Amino acid sequence: MPTLLHIDSSPLYGRSVSRELTAAFVSQWRDSHPDGRVIERDLNATVMPPINAEWVGAVYTPEGARTPRQKELLALSDSLLAELEQADEYVFGVPMHNFGVPSVLKLWIDQIARVGRTFSYADGRPKGLIIGKKATFIIATGGIYDAQTRMASFNFVEPYLRSVFGFLGLTDATFLTAGGTAALSQGHDRHAFLAPHLQAVQTHAQSLQGVAA
Ligand SMILES: Cc1cc2nc3c(=O)[nH]c(=O)nc-3n(C[C@H](O)[C@H](O)[C@H](O)COP(=O)(O)O)c2cc1C
Repeated sequence: MPTLLHIDSSPLYGRSVSRELTAAFVSQWRDSHPDGRVIERDLNATVMPPINAEWVGAVYTPEGARTPRQKELLALSDSLLAELEQADEYVFGVPMHNFGVPSVLKLWIDQIARVGRTFSYADGRPKGLIIGKKATFIIATGGIYDAQTRMASFNFVEPYLRSVFGFLGLTDATFLTAGGTAALSQGHDRHAFLAPHLQAVQTHAQSLQGVAA
């Protein structure tokens, strides 16, 4: 069964631009996959403790030698990894916070970046193990960080996501950015602002299914 993993990380829910755009992607995906399954993972509603020394110790203990306490420590990570493994496609909603990804998304990445599961050093070199998946990252930023603009070097969202997911083997990734959402709090019409971004999301979602846009 085709499976999509839908991950959101904006705390703003109804006001969130990234959530509205990922919802449009999911809606389009459901239309194209009537027999498909969507796994919803709302990172703002998931309790994820920061990793600590005990957690790292558990990760580096061979699976068969883990104590019940170590297994318990890795339970959340294991279930988040299962969602990644079960899905064929991923869509992420990512608001820019302080020029980077939101802390809840970083906590999630810390949970799923696991030696032997999503990357290995088997031959002495890092090898990503998230193979054969397609990802769409939908980013919303208050300012504008397009290449060649004065603020471009402040954007640590897309470069970071490209690097960390590339390291984990996920290279089939599309980045769609709704830049300049600060205009919405200055009276800009939300419908007019979102229209081209909703169109871009729909066109991309259709292109993933090979449907002419
Ligand atoms: C805590 C916080 C930090 C933010 N930091 C930045 C920032 O560094 N640069 C920026 O351009 N916008 C920043 N913004 C604005 C958001 O990127 C913008 O509101 C965007 O639409 C967030 O996505 P969302 O609408 O899906 O929540 C910040 C917003 C919040 C709530």
